[in-house]
This record gives sequence, structure tokens and C-alpha cells, in this order.
Amino acid sequence: MIGIFDSGIGGLTVVRAVMDTLPEYDIVYFGDTARTPYGNKSGRTVIEYSLENTEFLASKGAKIIVMACNTASSVATEAVKNRFDMPIYEVISPAVDLALEKTRKDIIGVIGTRATIESGIYERKIRQKSPGAKIYSTPCPLLVPIVEEGWITKPETRMIVRKYLHPLKVRQIDTLILGCTHYPVLKNIIAHKIGNKVGIIDSSVALAGQIKQFLKDSPDIDAGLGKNGQTRFYVSDVTPQFEKTARTVIKRDIKLTQVDL
Ligand code: DGL
Repeated sequence: MIGIFDSGIGGLTVVRAVMDTLPEYDIVYFGDTARTPYGNKSGRTVIEYSLENTEFLASKGAKIIVMACNTASSVATEAVKNRFDMPIYEVISPAVDLALEKTRKDIIGVIGTRATIESGIYERKIRQKSPGAKIYSTPCPLLVPIVEEGWITKPETRMIVRKYLHPLKVRQIDTLILGCTHYPVLKNIIAHKIGNKVGIIDSSVALAGQIKQFLKDSPDIDAGLGKNGQTRFYVSDVTPQFEKTARTVIKRDIKLTQVDL
């Protein structure tokens, strides 16, 4: 099974990409809805939660873990890799690779949660590969609750997105990384507000492609994964609002099972 986790809705954008790219593979998802959001919490807490989430997914039979959360990927990747002896995927590197492939002027914007932006991980990873790149980052803490609330097309959401993107727009970025897995849900509004000349980077599709390639190159691991096209969804808290938004994101009817970690 491929295990995927996030603090809530966001990771479902990654689940969707993995389902589209690897439709026959079994997936187990965990959304830590009781403890969301992660983006305003300390690194120590996010590491602790990420270890617990991975432990849970491993107990359900996951043989590969996808940390479908930029906040967890920013601060907890090393800790999770050190603790678990299985392939661990994070969402930052595929976004960086894709942004560097697409940018024409090497002027890249990054939006994410406070924890992700303050970690400076995107700047570090981009500079490692392109030392001269200009990078402008801005935290957008209100966007996660807006997505969780399902306020996808509200005028207030458009106004907030415009305000957040303004400092990046004036820097004339040509590429914008959606550095939070919740943000692809708002992709149309973000694309509209930043302008149609700016390429939008959502790492989920690139990440799913990397996993596909990895499984092709690693037949031993591939052989241990279930391939019945089943996806199971676990959350640490179930609310009717979450169920409704989750269905919109995943674009199908899903059954959520509540678990206590
Ligand atoms: N979707 C997550 C991310 O990519 C987490 C958002 C949050 O819980 O604050 O960062």
C-alpha cells in the first residue's frame, strides 16, 4: 500500500494525482484533522505528529510513505527518514525541480504556510540547483482554513488571495510554487490573480510521476504493494464540513474512518 498523510484536506490533492497516475495501486490516506493546521505549529510538534502519522500508516500496511504536506516535508523529512526503513517521499523537491524546469527568468515566487516559509527550505533547495535565482516567498496563513471551510469561490477568498499575491506580483515573478498542498484547490483564483504569464507549480503530478518511475526501477518494493485500486481514508476527526470538502477535492464519494492515534 502507498501511505499518504497531511494535516487535513491538502494531501487529497496528492492522493488524486497518485490515483490518476497509478490507478491500480492501493492507497491508505491519513488526514490529521483533529490537529490541523500544522502550518502555525513549532517544528518540534510537526515532527512528533509526522512520526505518529507514519507509524499509523505503516501499521495499516503502507510500504511507501508520501508526506503530502509541505509543512511536514519542510521540518520532519529527516526525522521520518531516520526512524522508518522504507521509501519516504516529500513534496518540496518535485516542486523545486518543476519550477526550475519551467522558469524563464529565474524569478520564482513561493507561497506556503508560516512554518514552511520560515523554514527557508524552498530558498535553500532552489539555490543549491540555481545559485543565481531570485526567490520571493510569502506566507499565506489564511488559505488553509479557507480551503478546509470549502470557501473556494467566495469573493472574500478572491480578495485575500489578491492581497497575499501582491508582493510577488510587483517582483514580476514568472513562476509561482504552490508550497502547500491545500493551495491547488484554489489554483484557478491564484492563477487569475497572479496573471496568466506566471507558471503555477503544483508538485503533486510530478511527485506521482517520480513514484511511478521508482516502482518501475524497484521491482522488489513494487511486488509488495497491493494493486486492487482500493483507497482507504482515515482521519483523526470527522466533521460534515470536512467530508463535503473532501468529496469535492477527490471528485468521488469517499468513506472516512475516524481513528485515534
Ligand atoms: N497542507 C499542508 C501543507 O502543505 C498543511 C497545512 C496546515 O496544516 O497548516 O503545508
